[in-house]
Amino acid sequence: MFTIALVARKGGSGKTTLAVHLALAAWLRGWHTLLADVDPQRSAIEALRARHGLGPDRVAIAGPKLYDLQMSAVRRGTDVMIIDTAAGVTEEQASAIVLADLCLLVVRPAFLDLAAAIESVAIIRRLKKPLLLVVNQAPPAREGVESPAVRRALRALAVLSQPIAPTLIRSRMVYQSALETGRSAEEAGDPAAALEIAELWAYIRHFALPHRAAG
Ligand SMILES: Nc1ncnc2c1ncn2[C@@H]1O[C@H](COP(=O)(O)OP(=O)(O)O)[C@@H](O)[C@H]1O
Ligand SMILES: [Mg+2]
Repeated sequence: MFTIALVARKGGSGKTTLAVHLALAAWLRGWHTLLADVDPQRSAIEALRARHGLGPDRVAIAGPKLYDLQMSAVRRGTDVMIIDTAAGVTEEQASAIVLADLCLLVVRPAFLDLAAAIESVAIIRRLKKPLLLVVNQAPPAREGVESPAVRRALRALAVLSQPIAPTLIRSRMVYQSALETGRSAEEAGDPAAALEIAELWAYIRHFALPHRAAG
């Protein structure tokens, strides 16, 4: 099993949005998927509760119980466990990082997010965990040219010498509206957003594949 923790000190960066989208992306592709929500607000669980029909397994849980959950998920043959965390430097977030095979640090291309990302990177590095930076809520590129905010953000993130997901997730209403019915942008039929999520999952899948129970 492969465990992914969505982390960011900053609230509103898009951890929950991407946790649910990635859980659905994996599930739609036949991966046995568990979404663990350790944020006391339970937004990820709420989003999936609105879903009609089948979907990934989901559980709301406190940080100290995550390890037991991870062990039972392994026993049940889960392929990927995705942990959504609360913002801030919390015990929950630390437990999630400790158990993760990969930490996804979600950052908006905005000064305060970038400043907070530097601290998150330091924590994840101290815990010696693989890290992938994901830029979310990026404004659109115009004729292939990124906006000044995105260019500045990419330059700032490059200084951290950590891998950055090659697909930027743009700011799109469908990421909000789809979750209102517990669906991913892929299911909502928005081709541009669907492509972004498919590409992001395809990139992360490379890390996860060797850990997959079913091979
Ligand atoms: N790529 C995106 N495009 C548009 N809105 C987004 C995007 N990502 C997140 N949002 C919106 O931003 C807000 C915060 O996102 P959320 O996933 O709850 O962040 P976090 O879990 O990090 O606090 C929500 O209203 C969400 O719908
Ligand atoms: Mg959240």
